[in-house]
Amino acid sequence: MLPGKKDRSPVALEQRDASGDQRMFSPSAARNSTPILAVLKRVLPARGAVLEIGCGTGEHAVCFAGAMPNITWQPSDPDADARTSTSSWIKFSRLKNVLAPRDIDVCSGQWGVEQTGPFDAIVSINMIHIAPWAASLGLFAGAGRLLHAGGLLLLYGPFMRDGAHTAPSNAAFDAALKARDPSWGVRDIADLEQVSKAAGLVLRETVEMPANNMLLVFSAGSV
Ligand SMILES: C[S@@+](CC[C@H](N)C(=O)[O-])C[C@H]1O[C@@H](n2cnc3c(N)ncnc32)[C@H](O)[C@@H]1O
Repeated sequence: MLPGKKDRSPVALEQRDASGDQRMFSPSAARNSTPILAVLKRVLPARGAVLEIGCGTGEHAVCFAGAMPNITWQPSDPDADARTSTSSWIKFSRLKNVLAPRDIDVCSGQWGVEQTGPFDAIVSINMIHIAPWAASLGLFAGAGRLLHAGGLLLLYGPFMRDGAHTAPSNAAFDAALKARDPSWGVRDIADLEQVSKAAGLVLRETVEMPANNMLLVFSAGSV
């Protein structure tokens, strides 16, 4: 786990393999699923298709799909272990509205779900700061290609506002990220807004979340 922050460990963590159970467990997902779900239930349509980018263990996918049975949830992650864990969570949950995880790297120009979309929403939790800036660019470009008009791009994590951290713990976390990989780091909302405009999205809402996180709600085109 990264020093100075308890809510953002990269995919965890503890792996259970008895009886083919390959679910991984992320402490941060256990903490943030409930507050994120509350926002999703408010902003997502009652029914539709959601693409999750960087799904990690898959715990969010089954938690959210289980609570919103009329949403078809498409998890994705470029990491094979994450997809294995997600598949195991889907099997364990017995949910019918979670699709098998796809291998999507947002830096790629084609995500392989172009035929499945367009989507009502794209959700990415604790991804863009633990990836190079190119991942933010790719994520917005993909959202511009794959969202319905009025569709939502939802980003959860720590963010800076106008060049300043919103809490000392976020500044420490940012420094720890950059020490680990100089291309990583907490992103500034103003920079993301600029990129979003180029992709045809607008920042509609900034929701304050526990532990100095935020959930940014961007919408595509016009409703
Ligand atoms: C810190 S983990 C968060 C996982 C999960 N969303 C959660 O909150 O528990 C970041 C995830 O982003 C994924 N990721 C990293 N770079 C990515 C990229 N370029 N495109 C898509 N996903 C990426 C990683 O494989 C990893 O699963």
